[in-house]
Amino acid sequence: MTIGAPEFLSGSPYPARRSVPAMTDIAIKTTALIKRYGEHRALNELNLQVPSGEIFGLLGHNGAGKTTTVSILTTLLEPSSGTAVIGGHDIRSDPDAVRRAIGYLPENVQFYDNLTLAENLTFFARLSGIRNPRARIREVLTFLDFTGREAQRLGTFSKGMRQRAGIAQAILHAPSVLFLDEPTSGLDPQGVAKLRETIISLNTELGMTVFMNTHLLAEVTKTCSSIGILSSGTLIYQDSVQATLQSFPDQESLEDIYLHIEAGRIS
Ligand SMILES: Nc1ncnc2c1ncn2[C@@H]1O[C@H](COP(=O)(O)OP(=O)(O)OP(=O)(O)O)[C@@H](O)[C@H]1O
Ligand SMILES: [Mg+2]
Repeated sequence: MTIGAPEFLSGSPYPARRSVPAMTDIAIKTTALIKRYGEHRALNELNLQVPSGEIFGLLGHNGAGKTTTVSILTTLLEPSSGTAVIGGHDIRSDPDAVRRAIGYLPENVQFYDNLTLAENLTFFARLSGIRNPRARIREVLTFLDFTGREAQRLGTFSKGMRQRAGIAQAILHAPSVLFLDEPTSGLDPQGVAKLRETIISLNTELGMTVFMNTHLLAEVTKTCSSIGILSSGTLIYQDSVQATLQSFPDQESLEDIYLHIEAGRIS
């Protein structure tokens, strides 16, 4: 990374949000969150707390409810009941404040493929009300070590480049919480390593709390500070990665622990 936090944040449209500590040490708190799709209960009274400054990994089988959770926390989907508070803002009573406080990288990030990277980011920066988009975009791309592609059309980007463009877009307005849905999917090993480096620097250098859905268990040990496991819509486990590895001394890896916990749930 080429520049540090103070310079990066100098162009932030929300300097107060970054310089004043959050009113709460809990970045994300969900209370009895339920989501039904017709008869199907995709989320079952989810009670989850993620302290500020964590890199939290939400694990779970296909269909466990991970994307549903992130969609609710990013205000894209309404819960059937229950609520959540992100950075001190309630998703039901103040969704606009939640949207200003968060960044979101969906699994399949959408861009205008016939526009360049700079044009796409300028469009999104204007939507967020950023005062000096050009300077801000330069700062973000420099921080992400992703300069030199500004004039290239998005339609010609590789999957890895698209992901980095997606992260640039997600952090343009200097959010305090960043949500990532399966960010490593489709990336090659170098892309995964680069993404890991980016996530860790967003967390350590800019103080962003990160919430990521993932299938890659090996990645969780390298990137995340805490994990939760969803199984058929129910949170069956939550702890720090360190405590998890210590609590299951007989299991050789986080993958074994995950399978052990999942198996205990099923049997
Ligand atoms: N719009 C929808 N309408 C009906 N059912 C849905 C809808 N979206 C999700 N579901 C169902 O809700 C459950 C949870 O889906 P969700 O996409 O949240 O899982 P996931 O953990 O993200 O899975 P994956 O690992 O495959 O991405 C699944 O059973 C899914 O079929
Ligand atoms: Mg999903």
